[in-house]
Amino acid sequence: METLILILKTYVTAGLRGELAATKTFSHSKRFILTSVKCGSAGVRIHENFIPATSWNIKTCRRFHPSRCQAYADQDVNQGTKLHEKLAEKNYDSIDVDLVENGTVGVIYLDRQKALNALSEALMNEVVDACQTFESIEEVGAIVITGKGKAFAAGADIKEMKDKTFEDAHKSRLFSHWNAVAALRKPTIAAVNGFALGGGCELAMACDIILAGEKALFGQPEVKLGVIPGIGGTQRLIREVGKSRAMEMILTGKAFMNAEEAAQRGLVSRVVPGDNETLVAEAIKVAKSIAELSRPTIAMAKEAVNAAYELGLSEGIKREHSLFCATFALEDQKEGMAAFAEKRDPQFKHK
Ligand code: CAA
Repeated sequence: METLILILKTYVTAGLRGELAATKTFSHSKRFILTSVKCGSAGVRIHENFIPATSWNIKTCRRFHPSRCQAYADQDVNQGTKLHEKLAEKNYDSIDVDLVENGTVGVIYLDRQKALNALSEALMNEVVDACQTFESIEEVGAIVITGKGKAFAAGADIKEMKDKTFEDAHKSRLFSHWNAVAALRKPTIAAVNGFALGGGCELAMACDIILAGEKALFGQPEVKLGVIPGIGGTQRLIREVGKSRAMEMILTGKAFMNAEEAAQRGLVSRVVPGDNETLVAEAIKVAKSIAELSRPTIAMAKEAVNAAYELGLSEGIKREHSLFCATFALEDQKEGMAAFAEKRDPQFKHK
């Protein structure tokens, strides 16, 4: 009889951390799986000998890739592994990714802390790839994007792009693939903890919801570098904070906006008091509450709201009406309304 040892690290989103070890015995296993698991209720589950595989930490999975192991702890691990293999195979360097809330919320951490998470080409490609991977995982209902350390992102990587010519920028359509974030059908939430400058501010604005930490600072300093915002800043900022304030920020390259003002002006939904962990936990909570709803309904709601960006009022109202009528083709509409009438919680099937 051989032993499979699972080292479990609990990560309770409220900030409580602890290390637990559990030993399971398997007659058919010859190898160890060493992993860490992030899970709000790991303590309880460990006692039940149940490993919440959909909460596997991706970086650890990369080192101890489950497919190299002959056996998994149980059926639940197998299911979770399938989801995580998609991400674990990616080998991201500039970001960290995680699936939480039983695999229903994807989290992307920008992780180039020495450069204040400056958006290098590699980092941007990885974010786009991770977003599209989360988009392709059926169970994921919402995506959170945040930065590790003291910045969300201090903009596009200046050192990397400083020698580019007009031809380089034009031919490669510099930064245009970044539009993929705004084009996602699944809802995105930016949890902005510190500097969100230049491309960092633009990335946050490309998301559907922005939650700000108390130290969040938004700005478009590009003109100080001899360029202008290039990932939607000139277009989106004006809609969020009005022409005068947007012009002041963009034309001076200074006049940064703090969290409190950003909330007053509607650039962010609200300020979350506390540290980064509290902010990310809150973003995950919002993401989870979205992910619990019917995914096709949510996609239609997002599409309808975004139509307001592109269309005039009467065209927008028509688009909304078409999408509203389309929701009546969903089983989830029948279930949602039946559940209300029967005074019970709905069980959405996402179809
Ligand atoms: N690109 C590359 N590296 C960056 C960077 C960026 N956007 N922002 C910060 N860094 C690097 C710094 O060079 C420094 O690296 P070294 O230790 O190797 O010198 C490190 O991150 C820490 O930065 P600072 O020492 O400058 O930290 P600070 O706390 O004193 O200042 C800051 C913080 C005010 C954010 C300052 O770093 C700063 O002004 N950064 C640039 C902000 C900016 O101009 N962003 C716009 C970029 S252009 C853009 O985004 C174009 C677009 O729209 C697409």
